[in-house]
Amino acid sequence: MGEVDPAFFQALEHRPSLQNIEAQGIPLIDLSIPSSPDASLEDLVKKIGDACRDWGFFQVINHGVPLEKREKIFNASRKFFAQPKEEKIKIRRDEKRVLGYYDTEHTKNVRDWKEVFDFAVQNPTIVPASYEPDDKEVTEWEVCEEYAKEMEKLGFKLLELIALSLGLKADRFHGFFEDQTTFIRLNHYPPCPVPDLALGVGRHKDAVALTILAQDDVGGLEVKSKSDGEWTWVTPTPNSYIINVGDIIQVWSNDAYESVEHRVKVNPEKERFSVPYFLNPAHYTWVKPLEEIANEQNPAKYRPYNLGKFLVTRKRSNFKKLDVENIQI
Ligand code: SIN
Ligand code: FE2
Repeated sequence: MGEVDPAFFQALEHRPSLQNIEAQGIPLIDLSIPSSPDASLEDLVKKIGDACRDWGFFQVINHGVPLEKREKIFNASRKFFAQPKEEKIKIRRDEKRVLGYYDTEHTKNVRDWKEVFDFAVQNPTIVPASYEPDDKEVTEWEVCEEYAKEMEKLGFKLLELIALSLGLKADRFHGFFEDQTTFIRLNHYPPCPVPDLALGVGRHKDAVALTILAQDDVGGLEVKSKSDGEWTWVTPTPNSYIINVGDIIQVWSNDAYESVEHRVKVNPEKERFSVPYFLNPAHYTWVKPLEEIANEQNPAKYRPYNLGKFLVTRKRSNFKKLDVENIQI
């Protein structure tokens, strides 16, 4: 085994503990809504609201996504990453191809111990002119499309529950997603000889509206607890999805719900796979606190910013208050 490039080493204060602290754990929510009594829906909405406010993260079970679709995307991902590097870099992400393969991601200037493949199944509106959809040749495209459909269904269900929990109409967010900049990421974290020095993904917040993450049974995700600031290990629950509020919901809700920092630890023996779905509005959206929420008593905490401009420039100069150093997608 060769020397590990120090570009992967975290600064002392950000190095992970080799012990996993689960503490209270993030909430696990059963999404099955019994069709009749309204009380059950109210109860579910309350659980979602509490989880968004207290953690910014929760796990869901009985979410309606068939297990088979999940298994297929994980298999496609394994197959893709098992290819030789020469094959994978044929679809490397670069200035022309905004989605694709890459293995050189840095989070806050420290290299992440991972390789990634990003794709979008709808017409991606992120820098549309330069997108070359030849990913179809190297991934099992139908599997990707089917998985994306399931994620979209679940995503809208969650957006409705979140809207209700904020006292809004269930379909309040729908209009923002008529066109989308949503994309899916296949993550592969190879075994790492220095799990005490490196991270699969350094600490960050998600700059999207909502993330729906499937992780395998290895584990690695840690969430910064809002109550005590400790890194909390998210124990994998079979066939569950981890949901987190992104920066855009933080802005829409005028900070009622916050986008919370998280990171990924690596394992010395086991490789890990995860598949986040990043649900994101149209590029022409002006993101700002919703008028039903921000008012004289609760003044808007953010200036409007244009999502397309943000996606293209990745400059966060329009953010008034968000901790711009802590955001990545
Ligand atoms: C991420 O937050 O970027 C990845 C999360 C994970 O792989 O668990
Ligand atoms: Fe993330």
